[in-house]
Amino acid sequence: MAQEFDVLVIGGGPAGYVAAIRAAQLGLKTACCESNPYADPKGEPRLGGTCLNVGCVPSKALLHSSELYDHATHAFVMHGIKVEGVSIDVPSMIRRKDNIVTQLTQGIKGLFKKYKVTFLPGHGSFVADAGGMWKMKVGEADVIAKHVVVATGSRARHLPGVPVDNVHIVDNEGALKTEAVPKRLGVIGAGVIGLEMGSVWKRLGSEVTILEAAPDFLAAADHAVAKEAWKIFTNKQGLKIHLGVHIKEVVTSASGVAIKYENDEGDQILECDKLVVAVGRTPNTDGLNAAAVGLKLDERGRIDVDNHCSANLRNVWAVGDAVRGPMLAHKGMEEGVMVAECIAGQAGHCNYDAIPWVIYTQPEIAWVGRTEQELKGAGIPFKAGQIPFMANGRALGQGDTTGFVKILAHAETDQILGAHIIGTNASELIAEAVVAMEFGASSEDMARICHAHPTLSEVMHEAALAVGKRSLHF
Ligand code: FAD
Ligand code: NAI
Repeated sequence: MAQEFDVLVIGGGPAGYVAAIRAAQLGLKTACCESNPYADPKGEPRLGGTCLNVGCVPSKALLHSSELYDHATHAFVMHGIKVEGVSIDVPSMIRRKDNIVTQLTQGIKGLFKKYKVTFLPGHGSFVADAGGMWKMKVGEADVIAKHVVVATGSRARHLPGVPVDNVHIVDNEGALKTEAVPKRLGVIGAGVIGLEMGSVWKRLGSEVTILEAAPDFLAAADHAVAKEAWKIFTNKQGLKIHLGVHIKEVVTSASGVAIKYENDEGDQILECDKLVVAVGRTPNTDGLNAAAVGLKLDERGRIDVDNHCSANLRNVWAVGDAVRGPMLAHKGMEEGVMVAECIAGQAGHCNYDAIPWVIYTQPEIAWVGRTEQELKGAGIPFKAGQIPFMANGRALGQGDTTGFVKILAHAETDQILGAHIIGTNASELIAEAVVAMEFGASSEDMARICHAHPTLSEVMHEAALAVGKRSLHF
């Protein structure tokens, strides 16, 4: 006898588990299925998706550990703190990260119990449209649901001829469980994962070389931020980043991995002990039996959805990395809430213009809204205010003075159109700009808000003041 639900969510990552919790909160009988290979203490697939298991959470744990090590070996001395004999125990660092993952993934199970979401371990797929209800399979079990929310996420994209074994050649999964500091680390892709993972291992002592196909560094970021980041990562921190490369061949041998590539100086070889492949991600839409029921995918294999994440089939929705838009956990969560509220007959909404981006390097990089080059390209008149962290007392006290905040506002209406930060705690500071943009605030509105002193948030304040050419401390 098939189990019957108002809503079946396929995939227990941040987009899926949030959709399921919100649907259940709204009184809908909800189930969520998950089939990943990471097992919890009961041997069931762990909830939390890429984000909790092999993405956001474990990568930030390692970034923080490696940053503390870097502080102990490089920054303490400027505070007059002398430490001797500092060393890194990588297996302990990895265990700590694993414990955080276990704690959080188990926490989602607890939330499912609290909000009465039924957890169905197993692979979910479509069977047929059965007169207003969807016949589904979860593992071997039959399930019937009025609404289906596809939240199947994404997996690392691999390159042809570059065999990822997650030992010598690794993707995000292998990079997060490396138990020893590789002497020479190669990375293909200077995107978010390449920079974050490159930073972790560089801080712990690896010689890191990143090979990037694009001719420009961090092209999606505001050009001023990308330029500053390039200087800091290459000159100050010693990451070697080669742009405009074409990977020709990757060969693994007993002595490591050799990457043959070409750039504007001709043929090159990079030899390393471990290679991270971080060249983007592929949506998990192949195991859904989508074609059999006529579920439409776009040209990149993502489920084709409208602004409310409604797919081309009645009562079928899709959210998170499996659909268009940035592959970010918080974007997926927003979509999960929106879809649950739409299913419950409410006016679910997601503001795609105010989704923040953060790169958790040191300094951190964060932005929301449009970049200067986008505004110029679109012919939108704007004014800018930019303030360096060097002008801030708290930043000086902390010894974190690199970078700046740049705020862009419409030249006529003064509405904030974008905020770009490179600097310490950028991931937290960006929230103020997101709130401002969400409420359609002007730079004048932000300039008139009282900011606590001495805090890094005063740099946001000063940048807003600088848009109106009246900064007080710079
Ligand atoms: P996923 O998290 O991928 O979850 C989908 C789940 O569905 C998976 O568990 C999968 O097993 C399951 N599934 C797939 N098919 C089926 C099926 N047919 N039946 C049952 N289950 C199925 N984003 C940020 O915002 N901040 C960060 O700091 C950040 N750091 C990252 C670091 C790394 C190394 C990586 C790889 C990603 C990072 N991301 C970050 C991106 C973030 O992890 C994803 O955007 C987010 O996890 C997407 O959520 P999702 O629910 O759409 O998909
Ligand atoms: P990415 O899209 O950020 O970067 C991939 C990079 O690889 C690009 O710069 C691309 O030009 C380059 N590339 C592609 N093919 C190549 C090739 N053949 N040779 C050399 N370079 C090549 O993807 P990444 O780093 O894999 O991360 C995937 C996604 O995961 C991110 O886009 C982001 O959505 C998410 N993520 C988010 C994080 C955050 O929010 N802090 C952290 C990590 C990942």
